Amino acid sequence: MRRLLPDPAETTVAEQIATLEPGRDVGESRPRVLMNFAATVDGRATIDGRSGPIGSRADMETLQRLRTRVDAVMIGAGTMRAERYGRMVPDPDYRAYREASGLEHDPLAILISNRLELPWDAGLFTEGEGAALIHTASDQDPPETATAVEVVRHEGSVDLERALESLRRERGIRSVLCEGGPTLHGELQARGLVDELFLTIAPMLAGREERSILSNPLPGVIGLELAWLLESGGELFARYRVGGSA
Ligand SMILES: NC(=O)c1ccc[n+]([C@@H]2O[C@H](COP(=O)([O-])OP(=O)(O)OC[C@H]3O[C@@H](n4cnc5c(N)ncnc54)[C@H](OP(=O)(O)O)[C@@H]3O)[C@@H](O)[C@H]2O)c1
Repeated sequence: MRRLLPDPAETTVAEQIATLEPGRDVGESRPRVLMNFAATVDGRATIDGRSGPIGSRADMETLQRLRTRVDAVMIGAGTMRAERYGRMVPDPDYRAYREASGLEHDPLAILISNRLELPWDAGLFTEGEGAALIHTASDQDPPETATAVEVVRHEGSVDLERALESLRRERGIRSVLCEGGPTLHGELQARGLVDELFLTIAPMLAGREERSILSNPLPGVIGLELAWLLESGGELFARYRVGGSA
């Protein structure tokens, strides 16, 4: 892997991600929110409805290593239904690295679902490892699961500001990696709740009706500041700070 910006050099995914300290200097109102997406050059976040065909091994390593740096991982219900997550950090070496950094072995999995229609037979719920916290507007109860599941109720629709505020104030969560999808991403961006965007740009064109990385309209143009740009095998790995000058 090469770093193209800010200072060109040979690097690795491990070296780059190890420089991140998302839990540092965090305000009291909400955690720092990092968003991660993989997209084609024409901005598509899915191929045949899945993200898997877009990213390479380096992209998967980036995602897995980003998970080693945060207190929690947030996932929209649509993404959970499509991707059927298992344990957050399956690699024991990565879990040991988290623990050596003073973090829990697995980040808290936060699911955002208005309807509480989730794939309860997915590994995240059946493996009994880590813990899940579901923010929902449903008054239903989740089924019994091997993994510990806690539910926070909202009226009408999940209030993302309130969800993040309670994570910070009531649970001490300092950093959240949001892994999408496009609907949740749009809602968070529209409310000014994203601090950084990690965007993998895969050297391919999907060229068809697929999801973009952001489904909903925004109240205005959001400027991004390029913090780094990496390259591996023709794939680009950009890290943007949200809220630069447009
Ligand atoms: N390329 C990538 O990096 C990448 C990353 C992630 C996902 N994806 C792809 O994106 C697709 C899924 O995206 P999606 O947009 O359909 O789903 P999503 O953003 O993951 O989830 C949307 C769902 O979140 C729930 N929700 C509850 N409150 C919300 C709120 N305030 N704001 C926003 N959402 C709220 C709703 O769940 P309920 O329906 O349960 O009420 C809503 O239907 C999949 O095909 C997946 O493969 C790609």
